[in-house]
This record gives sequence, structure tokens and C-alpha cells, in this order.
Amino acid sequence: MKKIAILHGPNLDRLGRRQPGIYGTGTLGDLEQLIRAEARKLGFTATFFQSAHEGALVDRIHALTDRGIEAFIVNFGAYSHTSIALRDALASAALPAIEVHLSDIKKREKFRRQSMTAGACVAMISGKGFAGYAEALRLLAKI
Ligand code: DQA
Repeated sequence: MKKIAILHGPNLDRLGRRQPGIYGTGTLGDLEQLIRAEARKLGFTATFFQSAHEGALVDRIHALTDRGIEAFIVNFGAYSHTSIALRDALASAALPAIEVHLSDIKKREKFRRQSMTAGACVAMISGKGFAGYAEALRLLAKI
């Protein structure tokens, strides 16, 4: 059974209440349930972590790697566009990682169009809402 970690960055704990026109009305709890169900079908176990703190996310990537996690699905929120530290943490883990964005970052403000962290990922899925996470899991199943 493949062990996968799903990491969420700042403000994603506000899903459901946060700009529903952009991010939808489902909560982070709803999203985790959906991921858990899809993961089970594919024979994965899913571990979840959300933090508004860049360093906490870096520390968790290292800790999970040391504990034998086998792949990551990440949505670092706004840190995706800025964080060399998170990109380096993923690169140092040297495990398959897929970046997911609920909204289509290529079609939003200019400052969101670039992802710093996607460079350490094997793929980026953007603009598909919650379904993007199911797609990421299916992609990991093929790797
Ligand atoms: C996001 C897109 C980011 O630009 C934004 O800062 C987020 C959410 C998304 O899932 O669409 O917090 O990562």
C-alpha cells in the first residue's frame, strides 16, 4: 500500500467560506473525505497536513520523508508563488510530488501565473477544483 501525504498551505483551511466563487463551497474536511475515498480505491493510504506557516510545511515534508512517505500531493496556496524553501524541501525529499490548484492560476492575476514550487513536482493540475486531487491520485497510481 502506497503511503501518500497531502499538504495544504495558508487559507485552505478556510475553504467553503473563502471566496466561494473562486474556490467553491466545499470545506477542507469535504475535500479530505473525497481524497480518502479515491485513495482507498487506488490502494493508497492518505495523511493530511495543513498549515499557514512555511517553516511548519518544510519541517513536515522532512519528517514525513524520514517516516517513509512515498509521494506528495501539495497545494501550498500563496506560498506556491513565492517559496524557494518549499521547493527545496520537496526537491530534497526526491519523491514524486504533484501540485494541485483549485483555481486556474494561469487565468488569474499575473502574480499567480508562476509557481515556484511546481518546479520540484512531476506535474501540476490547475483549475479543476476538488476533481484535481482525484486526478493527481490517479496520476500517482501510474508512476
Ligand atoms: C490556490 C491558488 C493560489 O494562488 C492561492 O493563493 C491559494 C489557492 C488554488 O488552490 O487555487 O491560496 O493555490
